Amino acid sequence: MDLILIEKALLALFAAVVVAITISKLRGKKLRLPPGPFPVPVFGNWLQVGDDLNHRNLTDYAKKFGEIFLLKMGQRNLTVVSSPDLAKEVLHTQGVEFGSRTRNVVFDIFTGEGKDMVFTVYGDHWRKMRRIMTVPFFTNKVVQQYRFGWEDEIRRVVDEVKENPKASTDGIVLRKRLQLMMYNNLYRIMFDRRFESEDDPLFLKLKALNGERSRLAQSFDYNYGDFIPILRPFLRGYLKICKEVKETRLKLFKDHFLEERKKLTSTRPTSSKDLKCAIDHILDAEKKGEINEDNVLYIVENINVAAIETTLWSVEWGIAELVNHPNVQKKLRDEMDAILGPGVQITEPDTHKLPYLHAVINETLRMRMAIPLLVPHMNLHDAKLGGFDIPAESKVLVNAWFLANNPKYWNKPEEFRPERFLEEEAKVDANGNDFKYLPFGVGRRSCPGIILALPILGITLGRLVQNFELLPPPGQAKLDTSEKGGQFSMHILKHSTIVAKPRVF
Ligand code: HEM
Repeated sequence: MDLILIEKALLALFAAVVVAITISKLRGKKLRLPPGPFPVPVFGNWLQVGDDLNHRNLTDYAKKFGEIFLLKMGQRNLTVVSSPDLAKEVLHTQGVEFGSRTRNVVFDIFTGEGKDMVFTVYGDHWRKMRRIMTVPFFTNKVVQQYRFGWEDEIRRVVDEVKENPKASTDGIVLRKRLQLMMYNNLYRIMFDRRFESEDDPLFLKLKALNGERSRLAQSFDYNYGDFIPILRPFLRGYLKICKEVKETRLKLFKDHFLEERKKLTSTRPTSSKDLKCAIDHILDAEKKGEINEDNVLYIVENINVAAIETTLWSVEWGIAELVNHPNVQKKLRDEMDAILGPGVQITEPDTHKLPYLHAVINETLRMRMAIPLLVPHMNLHDAKLGGFDIPAESKVLVNAWFLANNPKYWNKPEEFRPERFLEEEAKVDANGNDFKYLPFGVGRRSCPGIILALPILGITLGRLVQNFELLPPPGQAKLDTSEKGGQFSMHILKHSTIVAKPRVF
């Protein structure tokens, strides 16, 4: 950075301090803001709080400041709610007021400033995108059409793992193969396509770009430049990389998937409705002029992140918990043996007959929520929440992880005990019927993908436990379940090696 830039930054800092003090003097008296640490001009609470605003750190702040608190992170207001009542207020009672999304500087880049569905403000564009995506992705008809594909994908995983002698001795990083499976599960729906192997060059490119997108977006490293605009020049390099990744990625979606699909559909009879995959529906909407090509590309972008990663992380967490709780694993296996018969491979309709499997999934999603802070909400206009004033365009996080892991609402929440969902919490389900358990959110901006995620989780975990005894690698008593939290995500820090001993039927 040259001297002129430093001089400009200092000048801007001085001007911002003066403006911030004036504004806070003018405003301070009128607003009743939620409690929180005392902010200083320009930086707000950033110097006290730092960058790492993951679900656990925000839980610690909730313990200190209460069920609703405010962090002023430079220019951004961040309100965090941590009680079922306040979650209800944000997601349901005032669902319209708090139904928008904030985007920071990086998400602005990756979503084309909200040309997508997940990160767009609540309004006509969001409504249209959600409507257009519903038929091709979010109905039971889609589940019934694609469940055979998902069953086929996990069958291939099981066969390959059985054929790999290392799997039953030293162990393998099972997640690597499951990642391919998850891409195939979703790419079959989206483009009626699958990748043959983990070495498929297109798959490798796609996986690398998606991984990079997530890493760049979920990192806390760029917070300073997002919170404090005068520091933004220092972020130029980071944002440049984001732009490059975004452009390369969208080009890949366009050249290798959209154009290929268009070519294919233009050369085959269009009479048969069954042949339509999701993107055909989306392209129909484009042809009708309801959305443009950018929107189509951002729909593909959203599915790559919102669907594939979240479900994969949840599968990975589920496996880790089953390995670390062999008694739970055995009980699940016994349930499937008893209800389906030993060796009878679980299919989607079976998932509805297996209460313990359902409980294992619920318990995994409770302790190991892939999106522990939901996707950030936002109020477009000044609003009231819990008796406090929430200035317009505040980022509002619901700490869904804390709601689901707070001893005030759960019996020994730190224990992985699926039985709770058959006993004291038997009425609580992942669809958001109780505001203390919201792994998919609830209300207008809740996850529409729940309808696909739950059967995929059931079939995947079910088949693995039916066919293998899953163990830690030799010499290790338990898997390392350290977490890696992000802007609003949570995944396992280390992809574990797992021993998969085939069962003999
Ligand atoms: C275990 C897997 C999954 C989990 C835990 C999960 C969780 C979530 C959560 C917490 C939200 C935000 C809710 C809110 O902000 O109030 C969300 C939004 C969303 N999810 Fe999922 N999700 C999963 C799988 C999927 C799948 C498979 C798809 C698509 C096929 C999907 C598509 C979406 C979309 C499009 C949104 C944005 C909705 C909107 O803003 O209107 N998700 N998800």
